[in-house]
Amino acid sequence: MKLNIAVLPGDGIGPEVTAQAVKTLKAIAMEFNHIFTFDYGLIGASAIDKTGNPLPEETIGICEKADAILFGAIGKTSYDLDPNAKIRPEQGLLGLRKTLDLYANIRPVIAYDDLLNKSSLKKNQIKDTNILIYRELTSGIYFGEKTLSDDGNTASDICTYTRAEIERITHLAFKAAQSRKHKLTLVDKANVLESSRLWRRVVQELAPQYPDVKLNYMYIDNAAMALIINPKQFDVILTENMFGDILSEEASVIVGSIGLLASASIGENHAMFEPIHGAYTKAANKGIANPIASILSAAMLLDHFGLDDEAALIREAVDKSLKLHITTPDLNTKYDNISTTKVGDFIEDFIQNPDETNLNFTNIHLGQSTII
Ligand code: IPM
Ligand code: MG
Repeated sequence: MKLNIAVLPGDGIGPEVTAQAVKTLKAIAMEFNHIFTFDYGLIGASAIDKTGNPLPEETIGICEKADAILFGAIGKTSYDLDPNAKIRPEQGLLGLRKTLDLYANIRPVIAYDDLLNKSSLKKNQIKDTNILIYRELTSGIYFGEKTLSDDGNTASDICTYTRAEIERITHLAFKAAQSRKHKLTLVDKANVLESSRLWRRVVQELAPQYPDVKLNYMYIDNAAMALIINPKQFDVILTENMFGDILSEEASVIVGSIGLLASASIGENHAMFEPIHGAYTKAANKGIANPIASILSAAMLLDHFGLDDEAALIREAVDKSLKLHITTPDLNTKYDNISTTKVGDFIEDFIQNPDETNLNFTNIHLGQSTII
């Protein structure tokens, strides 16, 4: 298959982790005889530094003509500390999601057996957790009208949803539940918010089209607790933009590190794949950023094009790296010298040589030749 992939490394640890995902995709292309080409674009703080614009026209063009987009991370501390900044790195990512109409953000949360003891939660509570979060990504409070009074003392962000916006992601979430454990939980705040009541109404109306899916509802405050106490009760979670942002980051505690959570952002005509973590500026250029979320996002990219064996091989490589403690320091208690690049090298080697016996793991740790 020929795929033209737009690569937007972005800020902070984005470039480091994205480089590992690109390396992984190149290894897959070699092994499976695909042609993947990569077109790089600027976004976020690094784009502001170079062009004054967090989402340059050129970047939009690269993304529009690509088959898929691989996104790194966005954000910079100096902007976080300045609430008055008019131009912000995040506008790049939000603008791109909106421009390309990437309305469904899909975030898998899977507890790996090898990492159960890395979570601050109890092992038996999280073992076998496998949740798929469907987060609406192009509407709600993120994109509603924003106001600030002239005296600067009153501000508002409006949360608006239309039936059409709710319907399209709801269908995707129901379909996902049909291919899994047939359970869908709508997370909202329908006891307080009118927009949540619309979500409930629309989802209820669509439910009869999916009679094999058991639908239930949960308020966001309760869901935030339930996710930590008993995550196994969830199969597919459907929720609006901001609740999904918060819940998915909370869910990373189950998995052991936010550096493991991948996502796909899907629209009718475009698809983008991005780790759920941010730019983590403090860790940039230190070689300590976990590339797994980015690498697993690349696997989701392959899923999107039906390249199932290819995606499975990446996941197998990731599982193996976790089993052998070839992981960055956020997860590692065994070795202290495994860098972002070394994790990427291991995954690349595994893809080229999945037969375990051919891999010289010790040398990988030492950063020497990797294949014997
Ligand atoms: C995410 C991030 C973004 C969001 C930020 C960087 C704008 O937190 O993708 O979860 O809030 O959507
Ligand atoms: Mg977030």
